[in-house]
Amino acid sequence: MSKTALITGASMGIGLDLAVLAARDGYDCILVSRNEPRLHELKKVLETRYRINVHVFALDLAKHDAASRLTKMIDEAGLTVDFLINNAGFGTAGAFADLDAETEADEVRLNVNTLTELTKAYLPGMLERDHGYVLNVASVAAFQPGPYMAVYYATKAYVLSLTEALHAEVKGSGVHVSVLCPGPTDTNFFDRAGSELSFSKMPSHLVAFFGYKGVMNNKRVIVPGLSNQLLVGFAKLMPRALSLEVLRRVQKPTDGNAAESTT
Ligand SMILES: NC(=O)c1ccc[n+]([C@@H]2O[C@H](COP(=O)([O-])OP(=O)(O)OC[C@H]3O[C@@H](n4cnc5c(N)ncnc54)[C@H](OP(=O)(O)O)[C@@H]3O)[C@@H](O)[C@H]2O)c1
Repeated sequence: MSKTALITGASMGIGLDLAVLAARDGYDCILVSRNEPRLHELKKVLETRYRINVHVFALDLAKHDAASRLTKMIDEAGLTVDFLINNAGFGTAGAFADLDAETEADEVRLNVNTLTELTKAYLPGMLERDHGYVLNVASVAAFQPGPYMAVYYATKAYVLSLTEALHAEVKGSGVHVSVLCPGPTDTNFFDRAGSELSFSKMPSHLVAFFGYKGVMNNKRVIVPGLSNQLLVGFAKLMPRALSLEVLRRVQKPTDGNAAESTT
């Protein structure tokens, strides 16, 4: 019987690599992002290479009614979602007081609202069928507040908290709910956030691999890579005041330069 994965933010980066893994595993794929031509290119590759069916929905998931529009289109296409990958997201870097209000509202709607609404739409069906997977993409930024990327860090803290709670709620069922917390990853993320990075970045296919394997194994929190695991360990041990001061100094934009971020 065919099984279907819904991947948000599948046009590039970690989402694209997660879509490849799902397709390789025999999932039909529902690819979502704003960039229709890129999604159609990926559809062609996945259908040819893995002999699966791919459905493309080009949508701005930061719009307030995006999740209901998407679920309606998926229903009308007669599709059931067995694997939900809430990956689409973006960050903003700079002083909260200076950043554009509408861009940050989009960031919250995409990283928080749409992710929550899609999980709400598909988790009950998975529980009824006693089978399914939800992989939410947060970040190592989820483990502490982040001055000069305040909204981004806060959205990812929400994703971590929500997902860990849901993991506990579905315990004992055939449904796996996991959160992937990547550290710096080599994608378009930093260009879009307008931040710079002097840390080395992990290839996105490796991040996707750890995320995919983690949710299959019903891991609650997946932090890919030893250095990211150490970073998260420090964040948990360090007093809040100290980690705030460290991040305030590291991420503070210097005059005329973009902020530097840890994710
Ligand atoms: N890269 C990192 O260092 C890093 C670290 C930790 C966590 N993460 C998280 O990993 C996830 C994937 O990011 P990435 O690094 O792969 O970045 P990316 O290369 O910029 O990819 C982001 C994806 O999200 C989609 N997207 C963005 N805004 C959207 C919108 N309004 N509506 C629909 N789709 C939208 C993009 O597609 P379109 O532009 O085609 O719409 C793209 O497919 C994000 O949640 C990010 O916060 C990344």
